[in-house]
Amino acid sequence: MDFEFTEEQLMIRDAARDFAQRDLIRDVLERDAGSIYPTEHVKKLAELGFLGMLVSPEYDGGGMDTISYVLAMEEISKVDASVSVIMSVNNSLVCYGIEAYGTEEQKQKYLKPLARGEKTGAFLLSEPEAGSDATSQRTTAEDKGDHYLLNGTKNWITNGNTAGTYLVIAQTHPDKKHKGINCLIVDRHSPGISVGPHEDKMGMRSSDTHSVMFTDVIVPKENRFGEDGFGFTFAMKTLEGGRIGIASQALGLASGAFERAVKYAKERKAFGTEIANHQAIAFKLADMAVKIENARNLCLKAAWLKDNSKPYGVASAMAKYYAAEIAMDVTTQAVQIHGGYGYVKEYHVERLMREAKLTQIYEGTSEIQQIVISRDILK
Ligand code: CAA
Repeated sequence: MDFEFTEEQLMIRDAARDFAQRDLIRDVLERDAGSIYPTEHVKKLAELGFLGMLVSPEYDGGGMDTISYVLAMEEISKVDASVSVIMSVNNSLVCYGIEAYGTEEQKQKYLKPLARGEKTGAFLLSEPEAGSDATSQRTTAEDKGDHYLLNGTKNWITNGNTAGTYLVIAQTHPDKKHKGINCLIVDRHSPGISVGPHEDKMGMRSSDTHSVMFTDVIVPKENRFGEDGFGFTFAMKTLEGGRIGIASQALGLASGAFERAVKYAKERKAFGTEIANHQAIAFKLADMAVKIENARNLCLKAAWLKDNSKPYGVASAMAKYYAAEIAMDVTTQAVQIHGGYGYVKEYHVERLMREAKLTQIYEGTSEIQQIVISRDILK
């Protein structure tokens, strides 16, 4: 086993850290307060090559490995998970989906602009009545010969308004249940698409979350992935990689809060000494460090399996499940260590705690990850 990172992986981690600590930190509190989309920072993400970092250079991507992606996601999420979710959805759901399962024509037309960061993408699976129960798709893609007619509503869509390219999962043959589902590439500006208001969220307030409505939207047949009925498998396979992204995000939220808690504990004095000298605090820090290290190892293991073309679905579910749970725990402890200061915005940890909550919910709740893991144990 080799636990060393390569020089290239470390350079990518350092570039992400510089971007987060120099640029993102400056206005993160204002963006959180006002739910302001990070337009300039997304442009910088594109310039740095992070929006398409996992895409091969043949399609204008960075050709970086998944280990580097975990390292970059952790650094960016330490400061601003609203920015890292944009990067995660673009890379590991949208770009990956097109690169792994798209035709050459689809890759030339849709993947390249996404990999260059000229556009962002969105992954439209969740619906008002189909969240965890993803097989129950109500959105329909009616087969009209040379095209599909798309009707329905999608919910909680990251990049819902700003994306240029949508991957839409919809039911074509309701009698076939999940085997009748397709995934279609849809231009965001197609006639018949309307976008709901920006969701006023508890955390990750500046990422662009909307519902999206389709009314008789015409989608050419050549925009379908794979064979007729491949859409649900497509969504499940793609989410396996997406979960490595969100696991790394949760890891970053935990390690960001931890770094702040350590700094505070070494500065803040109570009962005649820095609070880090009290075992009540020191033991908390030890517990937080062990949990973070475990989460990091799970993320890196899932990434390594993916990079080495080995099955990684269960590993990514474990990473996502554990990292999200400890992110909630560690960020809560970081608030506790800060006492009253932890409860005000200026110290950042309350925001990291609010953001950690979402990692237990999206790209499959913690309970969905438990389903994936337990089914593998019991099969
Ligand atoms: N790879 C390939 N096929 C898979 C698969 C995988 N990882 N997981 C399931 N399947 C297949 C199964 O083999 C089965 O196919 P067959 O009938 O041919 O055997 C089919 O899919 C249905 O699977 P199940 O019988 O297991 O279906 P289920 O309904 O019992 O459970 C589930 C499926 C795991 C719960 C799934 O619905 C799921 O993952 N739900 C969560 C959805 C989710 O993560 N949503 C996140 C939205 S995206 C998002 O949040 C993005 C964002 O903007 C941040």
